[in-house]
Amino acid sequence: MGSENLRYSVVVLLMLCLGTLFLNPTPTSAQLTPDFYHKICPQALPIIKSVVRTAIKRERRMGASLLRLHFHDCFVNGCDGSVLLDDTSTFTGEKTALPNINSIRGFEVVDQIKAAVDKACKRPVVSCADILAVAARDSVSILGGEAFNYQVLLGRKDARTASRDAANNNLPPPFFNFSQLVTNFQSHGLNLKDLVVLSGGHTIGLARCTTFRARAYNDTNIDPTLKAQLKAVCPLTGGDNNLVPLDATPNTVDTTYYKALMNKKGVLHSDQQLFKGDWGDSDKLVKLYSEDGYAFARDFGASMIKMGNLKAKDKNLEIRVNCRKVN
Ligand code: HEM
Ligand SMILES: *[C@@H]1O[C@H](CO)[C@@H](O)[C@H](O)[C@H]1NC(C)=O
Ligand SMILES: *[C@@H]1O[C@H](CO)[C@@H](O)[C@H](O)[C@H]1NC(C)=O
Repeated sequence: MGSENLRYSVVVLLMLCLGTLFLNPTPTSAQLTPDFYHKICPQALPIIKSVVRTAIKRERRMGASLLRLHFHDCFVNGCDGSVLLDDTSTFTGEKTALPNINSIRGFEVVDQIKAAVDKACKRPVVSCADILAVAARDSVSILGGEAFNYQVLLGRKDARTASRDAANNNLPPPFFNFSQLVTNFQSHGLNLKDLVVLSGGHTIGLARCTTFRARAYNDTNIDPTLKAQLKAVCPLTGGDNNLVPLDATPNTVDTTYYKALMNKKGVLHSDQQLFKGDWGDSDKLVKLYSEDGYAFARDFGASMIKMGNLKAKDKNLEIRVNCRKVN
């Protein structure tokens, strides 16, 4: 390459760099980074973990509830804290959408985290969306061990809007079949592996009768003992909010969920869709995660980071003072 050409290349490269530095039209949606709070609020992450730990000690289920909040945040117009906004007389949020009503929980713990980090940092610098992402990671690492302590990317901002319709339309319901689940995840930029490993979130937590009644009474790919147990908790009419654990060890992040799927013991219809006995790609992934807890931990972390990267659709973002309402 001649020196003229070289000089030209350097100039073009410089212009490209300056262009991305100064002409970026959306500076607020910059790449997320793991060290986003290192300088502006170094206490943020340790405080979140400590509040999550205390909350889980008080009630073991809380880890599951916090993990699910991050999922229900990210799948509805991106990870923007929209799931946390309360309804008012003039504002309809997502809490009354079908997948959420009488179902999602943990808001008091999020409030507690928000108050604690803002107090330590002396101003509101940690977004509610980031709090959900960190609390989800802390929950799985507290209940599953160090292998689940993946590095969370940070720097999200909070939406000033929410959408009940989007929550109804974009969150997958438990009666979805395999291809519907795959299509739903694809619409969020997530693939089959993401679907199978993130469904491993059901290694912790509980489900209400309404979410598994049809499976208990109508599905045929179900272990007879589980079928009897589910029917005992969930009558044909009434008892809608009666609870069963999503796997046999609902307070531990482990491979039990995947082992159950291989034995037709998935609690939700959607769970059992991931292992149908046809030895397709989904069955193979379920078998892998049932046998290899480290593969599960590694892939779960990677897919959580992918899900956590779902970008807010809203362009007018902020860092909320109170996670329940816009500033
Ligand atoms: C693949 C599609 C999914 C479907 C159809 C689905 C559906 C459900 C349903 C119906 C429940 C019970 C809700 C209730 O009783 O009201 C539930 C609970 C739960 N889900 Fe999922 N889910 C899916 C994916 C995920 C993902 C990706 C995660 C997180 C990574 C997750 C985490 C949880 C947790 C932790 C619970 C228990 C919550 C608690 O005990 O408070 N789910 N899910
Ligand atoms: C899954 O559900 C969709 C929508 O109801 C249906 O069109 C499709 O045939 C179903 N797929 C299978 C394999 O049952
Ligand atoms: C079982 O399937 C039948 C026929 O589709 C339906 O009418 C009934 O409501 C289902 N039962 C439950 C408990 O979902």
